[in-house]
Amino acid sequence: MSTVIEVEGLFKRYGEVTAVAGVDFAVREGDVVALLGPNGAGKTTLVEMLEGYRQADSGRIEVLGYDPGSAGREFRDRIGIVLQESGIEQNLRVREAVEHYGAAYSCRLPAADLIRLVGLEEKADAKVKTLSGGQKRRLDLALGLVGDPHLVFLDEPTTGFDPSARRKSWEMVEGLTSMGKTILLTTHYLDEAQHLADRVIVLSKGRIVADGTPDSIGVGPPSTTVRFKTADPTSLPRLEAEPSVEQGKVSYQTVRPTALLHQLTGWAVEQGVELEGIEVVRPSLEDAYLSILDEEKGREDG
Ligand SMILES: Nc1ncnc2c1ncn2[C@@H]1O[C@H](COP(=O)(O)OP(=O)(O)OP(=O)(O)O)[C@@H](O)[C@H]1O
Ligand SMILES: [Mg+2]
Repeated sequence: MSTVIEVEGLFKRYGEVTAVAGVDFAVREGDVVALLGPNGAGKTTLVEMLEGYRQADSGRIEVLGYDPGSAGREFRDRIGIVLQESGIEQNLRVREAVEHYGAAYSCRLPAADLIRLVGLEEKADAKVKTLSGGQKRRLDLALGLVGDPHLVFLDEPTTGFDPSARRKSWEMVEGLTSMGKTILLTTHYLDEAQHLADRVIVLSKGRIVADGTPDSIGVGPPSTTVRFKTADPTSLPRLEAEPSVEQGKVSYQTVRPTALLHQLTGWAVEQGVELEGIEVVRPSLEDAYLSILDEEKGREDG
């Protein structure tokens, strides 16, 4: 697997503000990486340096073997960028817009294929100005892909989408993944990162504070919660963990869920107790993300 992005010791300051404060990472071909972090963390600044739209103050950047800051057409040909807002000519029809944008690339995907990929077949002959917000974003995605890029940058691809449009755009991104594209996306939706990314990188104040798979980032051993309802919370067994009861809901925290479930269900069957609505819950990426940022904050304050 070859390396698509390589970044070492990257810094970017705007006057007093250090937006990117010493970042190192590498992305391999075919990876889907989600860049997370609070407002102002430096995500857009970092991505724009990778795209070649912003010059770094210091550090080394290599993207597809090029220095984006000085690379020319060959580099542009091989990356696809889907911006939050693209200024498409509103009077073009969807098919015309795709063909028009494609003309700028030496190698391009057939317009009909792209329109199918983003699910705009029925709108192929509609004018851009008649599209709904979600349909426009799909067109943006099609335009970002028209040059058949190796590497795709998606900046908050589903902000403002309704839940079903978000699911559909996830399917589109999965389609890209299965074509072997490398994808770097920024998002504020943790479920989106969990669903799409093989890897998440969390930025805070211009530094990487966590980097790993969506399931592995976080602090300490992943603890699982086993929860259920019971009519009589006074007669609960003390298993390898102490139960806690809140509003008729019982929960056990454990790092050994298999053993705990075995003991618990054994006890329940023996006692003839129904463990109503039992669920086994792993901490979500959102829990991990928030605790990483809390820890960072604690480190700064302390
Ligand atoms: N052109 C600029 N001039 C001065 N300061 C800037 C400029 N662009 C960004 N900054 C500052 O750099 C820091 C990082 O901004 P950046 O846009 O990279 O954050 P972000 O992680 O993309 O945030 P968001 O989630 O809100 O999009 C912020 O403090 C911001 O105010
Ligand atoms: Mg941003």
